Amino acid sequence: MCGIVGILGQTEVAPRLVDALKRLEYRGYDSAGVAVLIDGKLERRREEGKLRNLDAALERLPLAGTSGIGHTRWATHGGPSTRNAHPHVAGRVAVVHNGIIENYLELRAEIETFGAVPESDTDTEMVAHLVNRQLELGKTPREAVAEVLPRLHGAFALAFLFAGEEDLLIGARKGSPLAVGHGDGEMFFGSDAIALSPFTDRITYLEEGDWAVLTRSSVEIFDAANAPVTRAESRSSVTAALMDKGNYRHFMAKEIHEQPEVLGHTLSRYIDFGARKAAVPGIEHAGFDKINRLIISACGTAYIAGLVAKYWFEKYARLPVEIDVASEFRYRETPVSDGEFALFISQSGETADTLASLRYCKENGARIGAVVNVPESTIAREADVVFQTIAGPEIGVASTKAFTCQLAVLAVLAVQAGRIRGTLSAEQEASLIGALTEVPGYAVQALKREVDVERLSQSLAKASNALYLGRGTNFPLALEGALKLKELSYIHAEGYAAGELKHGPIALIDENMPVFVIAPHDSIYAKTVSNMQEVAARGGRIVLITDAKGAAESGDTAGNVVVMPDVPEIVAPIIYALPVQMISYHTAVFMGTDVDQPRNLAKSVTVE
Ligand code: F6R
Repeated sequence: MCGIVGILGQTEVAPRLVDALKRLEYRGYDSAGVAVLIDGKLERRREEGKLRNLDAALERLPLAGTSGIGHTRWATHGGPSTRNAHPHVAGRVAVVHNGIIENYLELRAEIETFGAVPESDTDTEMVAHLVNRQLELGKTPREAVAEVLPRLHGAFALAFLFAGEEDLLIGARKGSPLAVGHGDGEMFFGSDAIALSPFTDRITYLEEGDWAVLTRSSVEIFDAANAPVTRAESRSSVTAALMDKGNYRHFMAKEIHEQPEVLGHTLSRYIDFGARKAAVPGIEHAGFDKINRLIISACGTAYIAGLVAKYWFEKYARLPVEIDVASEFRYRETPVSDGEFALFISQSGETADTLASLRYCKENGARIGAVVNVPESTIAREADVVFQTIAGPEIGVASTKAFTCQLAVLAVLAVQAGRIRGTLSAEQEASLIGALTEVPGYAVQALKREVDVERLSQSLAKASNALYLGRGTNFPLALEGALKLKELSYIHAEGYAAGELKHGPIALIDENMPVFVIAPHDSIYAKTVSNMQEVAARGGRIVLITDAKGAAESGDTAGNVVVMPDVPEIVAPIIYALPVQMISYHTAVFMGTDVDQPRNLAKSVTVE
């Protein structure tokens, strides 16, 4: 992961590097650092922990200078410490890196042969030593970088700054994103356009294997074979304003409450409200009338959105879905053939495993669809068709509004696929689309349950373990509930298909175990309630999330009931996601964890 930035500016560069890093902190916040040139000499400030620590250090000990590089880190090689913080320096070279150099041990042995002594435990430092060695052997900076890049295995985006070279930055990408920003008499590198948004909207995205040499007045780009190449410059639509929390205590709370609005925006892109029809632009790329299965792959919460979609595509479009987490999918040599359609789901559009799975499918002849929130992202750019979620920037590390918007897009896609494949009639389509049209209103009602949720989260904050149970589309939601609880409140939680309980996990049930049961009053409600009785019989503390009918029929089995609005079946996973999010949010607030930036996590996982 990590975020990197480089600036050849006209004014003092350190505060601008920090400004750019603020927009990249979603990529990691274990440490941060900058290196700048002052009278041709490399000077660094690095601090462990969040960016504010670096900001404070720069206030105490400012750095002048107009050329520099900066980094915000999510630790891979070497623990989170100042010593391991980037930039890493060797002789005349400073480097920042996003990614993992896999042959790092081999490179470490090599640098020791020429007497270099590593100061850190990182893979990145080896790159600085190797490039510096080439300079010592008389190479120019660009020759030195060109010499070293082919020797690096793994994934990287790199930016180099050289002592004595006030008008030079070199950057390279392989597997991790890197953009060039064009200013007026200034030039920039950044992990994404968001980082560069305060400085310029003129962006060139480097392609796989590219490396680039910047001066204040020129850009030269080379491909992996060192041949000069031209890459298009585009205008980024990303706004420079840093997002603020409004009246909310955390971004996550704000993002939970934005859902009625952003779900409305997203649905209106894909639905013809007047005609009560699905109208997904670009759906013809999927070839839903011809394919025999749909491939879906993603990571984390986005994968869970894909799991819900599997139920929808199979039910409404009678289309078998092959779904796996991207970190497994990419390596298990799944047969994929020409003409298939593969769908990748990602908020950031930069998740390394999802991107690798996309490329695997593409190489094997599949057409690629992407449900992404960031239209400039690598996944969006490499897809044949993009179904964008209009969730707006999501800053809280835990995905909330992006998840429900992914569900909204996938629900409409499944309905339209059903129409195309002739498995849904026009009346059925109208009824399902009519239900989806009501989603923003249902979401408003669901958010009104926050007071109840807050109250019960207070008692949950004392638990060390929890279970989530659900059937059908509520099973993926159970997984999502457990994931959210783990990542935000650090309470160990598991999500199970309710029917699986008696095949093992029921052994965990005792009076200390909170068990959340997600069970709207649908066609399988009675089955889930039977499983709930099994938990009650063993003394488990049940929290039932259901509707008024479900609450009435459950009697007094559940100790707590969260009563949701009555919603049609296709809408339930979207609406029931809200209490699940609110439970983890309020539990985390009671426990005093860092809700927007939970420990050890990063928003965009750009390493595998
Ligand atoms: C959990 C969460 C993560 C992401 C996952 C994929 O709350 O946010 O599990 O869903 O890292 O990220 P994207 O969607 O950016 O590919």
